[in-house]
Amino acid sequence: MKKSDVVQALFANKNQKATRRESGLAFAPTNIALCKYWGKRDTELNLPNTSSLSISLPDKGALTKLTFIDETQDKVVLNDKPLAADSAFVKRLVQFLDLFRNEENWKLNVNITMNIPVAAGLASSACGFASLVSALNDLFAWQLSTKELSILARLGSGSASRSLWMGFVEWHAGLQRDGMDSFAEPLPFTWPELKIGILPLSTKEKSISSREAMQRTVNTSLLYANWPKKVLQDTVIIKQALQVKNFSLLGGTAESNALTMHATMLASWPPVCYFLPETIAAMQQVWALRQEGLDLFFTQDAGPNLKLLYLSDIEKEVKKYFPSLETIKLFD
Ligand code: DP6
Repeated sequence: MKKSDVVQALFANKNQKATRRESGLAFAPTNIALCKYWGKRDTELNLPNTSSLSISLPDKGALTKLTFIDETQDKVVLNDKPLAADSAFVKRLVQFLDLFRNEENWKLNVNITMNIPVAAGLASSACGFASLVSALNDLFAWQLSTKELSILARLGSGSASRSLWMGFVEWHAGLQRDGMDSFAEPLPFTWPELKIGILPLSTKEKSISSREAMQRTVNTSLLYANWPKKVLQDTVIIKQALQVKNFSLLGGTAESNALTMHATMLASWPPVCYFLPETIAAMQQVWALRQEGLDLFFTQDAGPNLKLLYLSDIEKEVKKYFPSLETIKLFD
């Protein structure tokens, strides 16, 4: 099944030719997974092997403004800089827009403003595709539900399906071949004292994209067979921890989930390793501080930087040990 089949099916009973607005505007937050998405059962539709669970960063993300232009190609501007038409990012966005053009040959100016810390390993594709899909919904007055927008955002990037909501979010893996049951939904928990800090450790370019790395893990890592079991277990525990606000349980489970994902990648061939010496040193510092009684945990995505998890009452102390930490607001 192709992406275009999914789009067609989703719009089958809808009036896609509704009035066009002059412009479309939408913001989407980026998100950090506490239980990771790693591995697909369908690489075309970005259908995951497992469910995943994340927290959105309410004021870090992408604001996308769309306007029609009278040109032969779409234009993409990122943080006020026009991007080259042959860049990988622009190609991916244009291919995504192609899914919605039908016979009409409109072209757009896509103006994206991202305020996520540069090179901090925060998923720009997640908030990018979620805000693009929401801005299209605004521009064409489709009036799609957030669930439908989540399905569409997933076609751009898997983790984007979770960036349609604030707070804690679960992306259901789903079972259907067309992925209509693979979308994200908010979880009914808030935790004002919960904090996340971004620990920048290196600005070096990623050695391999998460897309390629997860495919390689699925295809070559013998340990991958155990990953679905780990996720099943961790999603249950994380939800319990959120329910009763047990921070050590949440932090420990999120850290162990991230480490298991990285261990599974390491067993791929050629190996996939996002650890730098600085990453390991920071992990060891977190473990040493925890031994001394500090309730501090980390998670790591497809990059060398860590995200620290802690409660607001120890923020000052955490900042003392990690002066470069960028603290992020999660709840008001
Ligand atoms: C490590 O969503 O970027 O951040 O679906 O191929 O676009 P594609 O992958 P992507 O992968 C994110 C991987 C991760 C874990 C997570 O966010 O759950």
